Amino acid sequence: MTDVLREDRMTKVTMTVNGKAVSGDVEGRTLLSAFLREDQGLTGTHVGCDTSQCGACVVHVNGKAVKSCTMFASEANGASVDTVEGQTNADGSLNVIQQAFQDHHGLQCGFCTPGMVMSAAALLKENPTPSEAEVREYLEGNICRCTGYHNIVKAIMAASGQDVSAIAAE
Ligand code: FES
Ligand code: FES
Repeated sequence: MTDVLREDRMTKVTMTVNGKAVSGDVEGRTLLSAFLREDQGLTGTHVGCDTSQCGACVVHVNGKAVKSCTMFASEANGASVDTVEGQTNADGSLNVIQQAFQDHHGLQCGFCTPGMVMSAAALLKENPTPSEAEVREYLEGNICRCTGYHNIVKAIMAASGQDVSAIAAE
């Protein structure tokens, strides 16, 4: 394809990402995950499958958890998008969810972790003190190949302020 033809297919998108206005030229087929990673350099959003299976790419679009590989960047035009890079506290320290993942060993290789953190944030916004069963159900769309999920669930419950001392370590 010539550059001229490619340019004809480009669309300008503008959105707010982690509180900052950003814009870029995208093709109609450009996924939101690709826009965030390749155009904006926000590689904290991971891509594990590109087929809506793994949840590594979860971000928030207008406050809702979305698998960013299932949405075109053009569909997010005008939206407010939050990624894992925007989750730390204002001073750069880990937020309560991230700290709980660290404290309760909720990660091993870390590949799934950005999606887990973003899903956890969306869950706790909807349901501030979820039961263990509710956490497990909410995470159905997030795959972790390392941890067996136990410590992820524990970390999310701890982040919600619940006493997890009775839940055995794994
Ligand atoms: Fe989006 Fe796996 S990369 S669900
Ligand atoms: Fe490795 Fe979850 S920590 S995939």
